[in-house]
Amino acid sequence: MDNEAVRQAAERIKASSTVVVLTGAGISQESGVPTFRGKDGLWKQYRAEQLATLEAFQRDPELVWQWYDWRRGLIKPLDPNPGHYALVEMEKRIQDFVLVTQNVDGLHRVAGSSNPIEMHGTIWRVRCMECNQIFENRDVPIKILPTCEVCGGLLRPDVVWFGEALDERILRTIYTSLQKAQLMLIVGTSAVVQPAASFGLVAKRTAGAFVIELNRSKTAQSFLFDLSIQGKAGELLPQLLDYIDL
Ligand code: APR
Repeated sequence: MDNEAVRQAAERIKASSTVVVLTGAGISQESGVPTFRGKDGLWKQYRAEQLATLEAFQRDPELVWQWYDWRRGLIKPLDPNPGHYALVEMEKRIQDFVLVTQNVDGLHRVAGSSNPIEMHGTIWRVRCMECNQIFENRDVPIKILPTCEVCGGLLRPDVVWFGEALDERILRTIYTSLQKAQLMLIVGTSAVVQPAASFGLVAKRTAGAFVIELNRSKTAQSFLFDLSIQGKAGELLPQLLDYIDL
């Protein structure tokens, strides 16, 4: 682990009053949540990209619900890890701190982050295909196929699937934060899924933000950032916090 780089990152964070953090599946990996890409992203013979689409759900809602039921069952007993908790502490030390996550596992909330923006939705909500009503649902196992208690329509997970638009209000809020970010921290994302993959550049171009990436491996975008530190989020983030508190 590159201690000097972590110390430098901490100095930058300490000197910033507006910070945006973007997290991806990598921050939950140490809690036991499988990431999307790579070998542990597979479920049976399917890849996430083949199941997380409206077309897949329309073709075979039972199969897609079975996959989500498996993921919900897997995630429910899991706890946040030191990476999630370090972000809760970091939030307390920064004047204007915005946490954006691509994760649907809900672990930032469980850890205690005050208002994480769950830009891809959450696995713990369902939405009616007919009347669009949204309900919280933590049943494990969930009834397959679940139906809406208001209109009887088929319920789907309230997550953003490939090819679907993001909630416009959420996107506006994120871009507003990026435009004033002095610093951006990008944690555990492969940075291949848009629009999140461009947030670092947006912050850089529009606000001149100092952009730091923390990831177990180099990503396709590492070369774009001011600092790219390789290591586990559950170790790097607490270490960053220690330096911030020095
Ligand atoms: N610490 C830090 N980084 C890690 C760790 C860890 N312990 N474990 C894995 N990583 C990194 C990997 O190196 C990889 O770059 O996390 C990243 C995980 O990448 P993906 O699985 O592609 O997840 P993510 O970037 O969040 O995917 C984005 O794609 O499938 C969709 O909607 C889904 O939100 C998801 C989006």
